[in-house]
Amino acid sequence: MAEIELRHIQKYFGAVHVIRDVNLTVRDKEFVVLLGPSGCGKTTTLRAIAGLEEISSGDILIDGKPVQNLHASDRDIAFVFQLYALYPHLSVYENIAFPLRATGMSNAEVTRSVGDIADALAINHLLRLKPSALSGGDMQRVAIGRALVRRPKALLLDEPIGALDAKLREDMRVELKRLHLENGSTSIYVTHDQVEAMSLADRIVVMHDGILQQVGTPSEVYQNPANLFVAQFIGSPVMNVTEAAVTQSGDDVAVDVDGESFAMPRELVGLLQQKGADQIALGVRPEGVLLSHDQQPGYRPVEAHLIQPYGPFDIIDLKVGNQVLRARTQTGFVGKPGDRVWARIDPAQAHFFDTRSGNSLGIELK
Ligand SMILES: Nc1ncnc2c1ncn2[C@@H]1O[C@H](COP(=O)(O)OP(=O)(O)OP(=O)(O)O)[C@@H](O)[C@H]1O
Ligand SMILES: [Mg+2]
Repeated sequence: MAEIELRHIQKYFGAVHVIRDVNLTVRDKEFVVLLGPSGCGKTTTLRAIAGLEEISSGDILIDGKPVQNLHASDRDIAFVFQLYALYPHLSVYENIAFPLRATGMSNAEVTRSVGDIADALAINHLLRLKPSALSGGDMQRVAIGRALVRRPKALLLDEPIGALDAKLREDMRVELKRLHLENGSTSIYVTHDQVEAMSLADRIVVMHDGILQQVGTPSEVYQNPANLFVAQFIGSPVMNVTEAAVTQSGDDVAVDVDGESFAMPRELVGLLQQKGADQIALGVRPEGVLLSHDQQPGYRPVEAHLIQPYGPFDIIDLKVGNQVLRARTQTGFVGKPGDRVWARIDPAQAHFFDTRSGNSLGIELK
């Protein structure tokens, strides 16, 4: 059992404030992914939890007990780094056995424990080899094996597969997920890759400039981003975001994007008034921009500008005033650039943000 709690963590490097009042509870057996751009403070946060970095103020608790005064080696937390850091002169077997030998475990027990981990990671055939004979993916499996072999309370992983090629990263992602489901140790996983975060996490913690932006399940952060940063950091291709004005003429309500209006339900006006926001940005993911070949209620004519085939779908850049609105559509739906189609912004997939604060207004339409 291991619950990790961060309370009001602050960290300065000299005058530079790199972690700003971070509060987070990682539940027992949870897989939390810390996601954010380079330099936002992910590694520093992880190192602080492991006891490799001193924090400037705040509390770190493991199972309710403050650990600031505990040395890294006494926190019972294992750390997997991006670069494998295996001992080159030891065999794979001895690399994995190393943390166990340090505890004075008997040979028979070491053999059993290494065997269990090698089974779980499917690396039995590698045990006699030296690290120099391994591929990058195998080296990282061994490094993960070494971290897991002493059954630590918690596992911290800092971009553990960031150095591998795309295909291998995909394989490793699946393996890490399976391993977590089987072993279930509390895990905090750092990455700047949102696809990795979405596919692995029970909950994603989005970080920017040392500040936690949002904590939620993958679908929560994808479907209800708390602010413009999260909205545009998660999702590929990125969410369309544009300044917008809401207009009303008679019963018809619309959002104006660079002078071109898209129909919206009437209740939007009242909801915006309640929020008191006067400068708003509209956000809509490409799959929320619906296309049709025929005129339909709520659709307006637009011109396709660029077509990117992705395989299972196409991404179409539509010209809207002087702006581009990106739509996701079935393969081949738009024949060629310059073709005209009808487009609608799906109100249920529209997000509204306060331009000044960047925060979501929390408006959900049907
Ligand atoms: N030992 C140090 N001394 C001074 N500044 C540091 C030190 N370690 C990190 N920093 C700074 O703290 C900030 C956060 O760094 P950190 O390594 O935690 O970011 P990160 O999110 O892990 O980035 P990346 O994705 O590039 O690994 C950065 O601006 C970095 O330059
Ligand atoms: Mg880092």
